[in-house]
Amino acid sequence: VSKDSVQVAVEASNIVERLYKAKTRPEKACFNLGLATGGTPVLTYQELIKKSRHGSIDFSRIETFNLDEYLGLHPTHDQSYAHFMNHNLFSHVPIPSSSIHIPKGYFPDLEESSLDDVVKKECEEYEKLIVHKGGVDLWLIGIGRNGHIAFNEPGSSKSSRTRIVELTKDTIEANTRFFTDSDCSVPSRAVSVGIGTICEAREILLIATGANKQQALYDMVFGEPEHCPAAWLRGGAPVHVCVDESAFAKL
Ligand code: GLP
Repeated sequence: VSKDSVQVAVEASNIVERLYKAKTRPEKACFNLGLATGGTPVLTYQELIKKSRHGSIDFSRIETFNLDEYLGLHPTHDQSYAHFMNHNLFSHVPIPSSSIHIPKGYFPDLEESSLDDVVKKECEEYEKLIVHKGGVDLWLIGIGRNGHIAFNEPGSSKSSRTRIVELTKDTIEANTRFFTDSDCSVPSRAVSVGIGTICEAREILLIATGANKQQALYDMVFGEPEHCPAAWLRGGAPVHVCVDESAFAKL
């Protein structure tokens, strides 16, 4: 538990560095890092950029896998998660584009009727890619105020995999703040890795800041996973949890 969001970012980035160093000690070994979007990880990305500049993390030895992407937004759209990642991390570190993996959410030439089948195939490919690359070493995740992780909304099953998801009213409302200057509103659907996909990472690093995450964190620890998807983390890989005092208050 840290004093504020800046300290949370420092702690979280130190955990990333420690695990990165342990994994990449053998020459040529690569670190597979799962990444999240949203407001919370922005400061952590700034800390990782500093570590890259100081030479303590070499991004040419990292492959990244993102949790999710809105369905229907072009990767260069200002609210797509691909754009978010470029803006907040990838354009500031020497990572080759071939090492960046983000679920595909833009399928302009498809009829609505064939969309779901094509996306389903893409989702299966994303799962295979993660396995083919040796699995995710550390998945950095945030938490929604309703307890969602990635875009796994309440009701998501423990074994869920990468798939199309419908966003809840609460999540759409929470993410509206990012779309105020945009040419569109929050999409109602997204492509998201599943709870199963996240829990299979070797380790997980959950970060949360601010009073609006108090209930979600409480439910993650004490609640029912059917209502709070983050509670499924209790049965998966080891989870590091970095929170600030205000998010922790209910615990
Ligand atoms: C989105 C993302 C999640 C993220 C959540 C919380 O819904 N899909 O991965 O954890 O927002 O975001 P914030 O950090 O902005 O509260």
